[in-house]
Amino acid sequence: MQRGAAITLLAGVLVAAALPARAETRPTAADVTQKSPAPARLLRSLARDPSAYDPKKTGVATDLLLGDLVFHSPLALGAKARELGLSCNGCHQNGAAHTTLTLGDLSNRPGNVDLTTGFFRTGANNHAADFLSIPSLRGVRYTAPYGYAAESASLGEAVDHHAVASFGATPLPRAQLTALVRYVQDLDFVPNANLDAHGRITARGGESARRGETYFERPRAQFGGMSCASCHPASSMFTGGRTHRVGSGPSTQAGALDDAFDTPTLLGTAETAPYFHDGRFATLTDVVTFFDQSYGLGLGTDEKRDLVAYVEAVGAVDQKTDARTTPQKMQDTFIYLELLLAGDAMDDRSVWSMALDACITELARQQRPARVADRAIVDEAQLKALSQRVRSGATLASMRAEVADLSKDLYRLAADWN
Ligand code: HEC
Ligand code: HEC
Repeated sequence: MQRGAAITLLAGVLVAAALPARAETRPTAADVTQKSPAPARLLRSLARDPSAYDPKKTGVATDLLLGDLVFHSPLALGAKARELGLSCNGCHQNGAAHTTLTLGDLSNRPGNVDLTTGFFRTGANNHAADFLSIPSLRGVRYTAPYGYAAESASLGEAVDHHAVASFGATPLPRAQLTALVRYVQDLDFVPNANLDAHGRITARGGESARRGETYFERPRAQFGGMSCASCHPASSMFTGGRTHRVGSGPSTQAGALDDAFDTPTLLGTAETAPYFHDGRFATLTDVVTFFDQSYGLGLGTDEKRDLVAYVEAVGAVDQKTDARTTPQKMQDTFIYLELLLAGDAMDDRSVWSMALDACITELARQQRPARVADRAIVDEAQLKALSQRVRSGATLASMRAEVADLSKDLYRLAADWN
């Protein structure tokens, strides 16, 4: 054996020995539980018009409702996600980050996931432990580019690539992808009365945050004359939309230039821990300490406290949980059946499967009060039978009348649930 080759081999063995053995604890369906209570559900179109997703009221403009369905359907992702019952919403719950999700050894802390292990898609395995903090999608229409490494300028491309490359999904039909992207664009930031219309701290934000605001905007020699605000400008949702090197990359190789990351918005951080692309920081104080130490900012105790107060005030959310009642939540799922009765998606068999599956899952998820139990069993059996017929190729038109009746039944059932 050549000496060089022997050394390489030996080095390989040593590296392998030095790496902590990763126990194979693959995620199970039990990991994919809904966080309870779920974060607030905030959609721009619904805020303007509560019936904006209802095809019965808005004619055949079913884009947003279809996008809502695809976002909530494990069938839109690949086979593994389907087995786990994992949908987009499973990680980006109500559009926020699911901060307590742990997917077996795909996670190294709650809210983190390694999407390149080969679990969801064999070809995706890059043999590196690169855990990423699940990002919030709120206000995502303002926060291009997408991905921590800013891989995609367009949201459509980002979503398509994410679904196919990370989860091994079959590329979504164009109409479904367009609808999904429209839905994601509809996800809004949570209101925060600490900020005025220009993103400046209000009286409610408090004095400490007010002082922090001036520190945030102070040019610093250590930032090359920039301020925190140069990278996180208040006037553009606290992100300059650029990648920067702040010294947070994996220090794999001396001189490697692969450590620039997309600047995250500072809005909504109250519900997006852990922080930084890899979720290394549990608190905002840790983040400010990092900037202080790595840039040698020399922040005084008071200045640091005020900066943290500022970042916390900017990241606050005034609505913490999903305010919908159980009947409302159920009806927001059962309304998917309307997609099968009219509109552009009514002849798409995969939409039928997604809608019926969503209703079955919704019924299974809710605690059943005794007085509705019998009706729930009947409706559930009917949904399952329809789903079976869709899979076995029955003509969709032949099932439409039954779906219309069942849809009414389910609506009444939901109303009687509480
Ligand atoms: C297993 C958890 C998981 C699931 C399921 C999931 N995502 Fe993600 N998503 C992530 C992670 C982690 C990232 C960060 C990836 C990166 O930057 O490389 C991300 C990034 C994104 C981004 C980019 C956000 C930004 O601001 O850069 C979008 C948009 C997105 N996801 C939408 C979706 C949609 C739509 C679906 C369903 C088709 C989905 N995600 C399913 C975990 C998930
Ligand atoms: C040169 C541009 C730049 C400057 C200056 C800068 N940041 Fe950042 N900030 C970034 C980038 C890039 C990240 C993401 C790093 C990563 O994901 O590894 C980040 C991340 C953060 C986060 C974490 C947000 C999250 O959701 O993970 C907070 C909080 C933050 N910065 C606050 C500040 C404060 C406070 C200052 C001033 C002391 C500051 N930043 C200065 C570019 C900057």
